[in-house]
Amino acid sequence: MPARLSVNINKIATLRNARGGNNPDLVQVALDCERFGAQGITVHPRPDERHIRYADVYALKEVISTEFNIEGNPREQKFVDLVLATLPDQVTLVPDSENQLTSNHGWDTISHQAYLREVIRTFKDAGIRVSIFVDPETSMIEGAAQTGTDRIELYTEAYASAYHTGREAAVAPYVLAARKATALGIGINAGHDLDLHNLAYLNQQIPALAEVSIGHALVCDALYFGLENTIQLYLKQLRESL
Ligand code: PXP
Repeated sequence: MPARLSVNINKIATLRNARGGNNPDLVQVALDCERFGAQGITVHPRPDERHIRYADVYALKEVISTEFNIEGNPREQKFVDLVLATLPDQVTLVPDSENQLTSNHGWDTISHQAYLREVIRTFKDAGIRVSIFVDPETSMIEGAAQTGTDRIELYTEAYASAYHTGREAAVAPYVLAARKATALGIGINAGHDLDLHNLAYLNQQIPALAEVSIGHALVCDALYFGLENTIQLYLKQLRESL
């Protein structure tokens, strides 16, 4: 089974918000992503609602028929309430600060272990699969196993930025982290800065990869290739790299 493609639609909301109206229509874009083959939709609402608004999450929950994944920092009670009210298929916990441009590190699963265990229990009790964002370090994967999380999402920025100068070295820590996660019974997602150049190799090197969430590059590619072709191109990378 190739890893599943979840399209992060934050950038669509950013574009919509630039003019204050409803163009592009976020819900329609999500439905079209599904129609074009995406196997999931990801949103990352931030407390200031600068791209995805809380109301968007409720509207999307009504219509999405593939996997709905909500990302965010559970230190915000508003976020926890939103997730428990909308019951997505998966919640991805990310330790970003309020005004951070984008996520830039994984959890310290050792120093935050007790906290993570508690918050993960809350979501799992509500029937939501939980994934936590981590850097590809063995100690962080071992720590993650102690939190009760179902999955980890490997933070792939370091892989993506080193890919063109030496992909073997770039992927090596991710392969080790993935092996450790599999040995500990944890599922593996990946995301951040994945694109049409670096996706296939990551997928090939990590056979246990369950899901990738991709936003920025996919939306940029859609400017040139169109959304339907772009989603098909990403799916092809995942299929043909096995
Ligand atoms: N995963 C997480 C936790 C993220 O915060 C983001 C960006 O919102 C992504 C994946 C997607 O990253 P990109 O937009 O670079 O594809």
